[in-house]
Amino acid sequence: MAAASSSSSSSSMRLLLLCLLGFCVALSHQQSTDSCRFSRLNTVADLVPFDTRSFRCIAAWKDEDFVLRYKNTAPSEWSFVLSAPDKGSYVAVGFSGKGLMVGSSAVVGWAPHGKGTVKQYYLGGKSQDEVSPNKGLLKLVKNKAVVVSHSDRLYLAFQISTDYPQPHLIYSVGPENNLPDSDGVLPVHRNMYSHAFNYTSGIAYKTADSLDAGFPRQRQHGLLAMMGWGVLLPIGMITARYFRQLEPYWFYSHMAIQAIGYILGLAAVVLGFRINPAGLNNIDIHRALGVAILVMASLQVLAILARPDKTSKVRRYWNWYHHNIGRAAILLAIGNVFLGLTIAQEVNAYIVSYGVFAAVWVLAVAAFEMKRCYADDD
Ligand SMILES: *[C@@H]1O[C@H](CO)[C@@H](O)[C@H](O)[C@H]1NC(C)=O
Repeated sequence: MAAASSSSSSSSMRLLLLCLLGFCVALSHQQSTDSCRFSRLNTVADLVPFDTRSFRCIAAWKDEDFVLRYKNTAPSEWSFVLSAPDKGSYVAVGFSGKGLMVGSSAVVGWAPHGKGTVKQYYLGGKSQDEVSPNKGLLKLVKNKAVVVSHSDRLYLAFQISTDYPQPHLIYSVGPENNLPDSDGVLPVHRNMYSHAFNYTSGIAYKTADSLDAGFPRQRQHGLLAMMGWGVLLPIGMITARYFRQLEPYWFYSHMAIQAIGYILGLAAVVLGFRINPAGLNNIDIHRALGVAILVMASLQVLAILARPDKTSKVRRYWNWYHHNIGRAAILLAIGNVFLGLTIAQEVNAYIVSYGVFAAVWVLAVAAFEMKRCYADDD
């Protein structure tokens, strides 16, 4: 009795120590990374060519841990320091009158091996060749723009001559470990975000456009393709193959699910071809697979129209064809969803969620197949 209680109290002691350790690790991590609360700006202050004391600070973009500091340092002079994780990508902050990316000017910085480059870009359009380096409407103060890499963070510091900066800020971050080339051509951003901002009150406002910006075309394409090709088609296949006993409901639900899946998938393909492929790896194979899936799915739709009567002799061949093209399309679709998620360098939550779906689907199919096997043996 006594021994048992002492061992349980020592294990709860151990648990408590572990918790304390975890808390300290979390706290020290928080203090080693830059934030408005635990500022690390002082560690780079002497590398920034202007005084950064008593800047105002906002947690500008929480998803990517962007911290923006700024101050009206002189009449018609505004100074900024953007701090963001250094993941071997560029970081950018743009200024816009209406919150639109097109027509805005952005300060972009990157620092491979600690050697920093800062350039201004003018965003003439959404495609890569319309983003021009060394152009823009911001009056950057000469020799005051630097980017410093320190403790895994980039500090992009610059001053602009203006009475009051434009009221919308647009942030973007490039793909990881993929830097602009020597001509300054930017790889397509991995993520972006925008908000309206009152520099006097320090309050950021979400705008309708910033919602759109946080949900770019890549994500729309990805979600449509995932739902259409990657989730609905496999579920529709299950209804047709394993719920035959529910005549005629299996047929209508199979038709309805595949039809919705086809429409969503088709929309995903159309959107996919409107995404700028520059700077994305494996995009050719992803597109080829996407087209193959669309062709197969379209053949399935046509096959439905040309379905021979149940009593017809060729029906056996038609069944074989319909079932196998369907299976091939589904396997390609699941693979291509994973490929797309890696190309987009999508957040783990999406990859894990889809992985869970795919695993559950595989297990369900295996279980249904076994059940069929035994049922046939009876
Ligand atoms: C910004 O905030 C200041 C101070 O709170 C306020 O006086 C001003 O009207 C605001 N500007 C805009 C454009 O909302």
